[in-house]
Amino acid sequence: MGFAGSVVVVTGGASGIGRAAAELFRSEGATVVVADKDGRAADEVARQLGGESVAVRTDVSNSEDVRALMSFVDARFSRLDVLVNNAGFGVAGTVQDLPEEDWDRLMNVNVRSVFLCSKYAIPIMERCGGGAIVNTGSYTAMVAIPNRVAYVTSKGAIASLTRAMALDHAAQNIRVNCVAPGTIETPWFDRSFAESDNPDEVRKALNDRSPLKRMGRPEEIAEAILWLASDRSTFATGSVLTVDGGTSIW
Ligand SMILES: NC(=O)c1ccc[n+]([C@@H]2O[C@H](COP(=O)([O-])OP(=O)(O)OC[C@H]3O[C@@H](n4cnc5c(N)ncnc54)[C@H](O)[C@@H]3O)[C@@H](O)[C@H]2O)c1
Repeated sequence: MGFAGSVVVVTGGASGIGRAAAELFRSEGATVVVADKDGRAADEVARQLGGESVAVRTDVSNSEDVRALMSFVDARFSRLDVLVNNAGFGVAGTVQDLPEEDWDRLMNVNVRSVFLCSKYAIPIMERCGGGAIVNTGSYTAMVAIPNRVAYVTSKGAIASLTRAMALDHAAQNIRVNCVAPGTIETPWFDRSFAESDNPDEVRKALNDRSPLKRMGRPEEIAEAILWLASDRSTFATGSVLTVDGGTSIW
């Protein structure tokens, strides 16, 4: 889709959906900045991507880290075309039993990060004549799932933030969209399989969430992210594109 000469920042780019997006942008000619709190894994991904792609160890919930990331991008490349706000995690719990600190940590990593990364990316994009921001939301922005109160709330917030930013930055030629994945087989779930007494049962329950009776692949979400960032979607802004194997329709 023609990303040659483009610079793309992918947060959480060292694993799962972010990694698949980084690989796809690279295969379309982009230079990718892999921003992840796991510096070693990010280095490895950037090395495999090759070209001028580079890793920057970043905690996206930390303002100093995010400002350093965007300053580095500006100094090194003098441009930023695409920001993929993808880093995030989940934690189990209801309002009744989730510790306050866990709520704050999750909101900081999943939501504040989108605010911070966009805040410091937009001036660079504006100077370059525009750009595209793609946020990784979730189908849980549309339907609740049990025992994940903070996660569900954070993804609803990302959908709203997407629309608010799309409105505020349209005049700067910056499109802002959100991809809402269903259950995707990433290292995130590999960890829960490993921790479970009955991984086969967990896998079946996850597969059964979708009418297609399977989990999605990270590459299937990367395709949607790439499309939303590309010149093939020039009239899309403020949209939440559900790519969930039908999980939210039943
Ligand atoms: N896997 C799914 O089923 C699924 C479904 C819907 C949405 N999502 C969303 O997709 C995104 C990626 O999830 P994934 O499944 O690929 O997870 P993953 O655990 O495989 O990868 C997440 C990456 O984010 C990084 N990260 C976490 N906290 C960070 C921080 N504070 N600063 C910088 N990097 C940080 C991790 O180090 C890791 O490399 C998340 O926002 C998640 O909520 C995932």
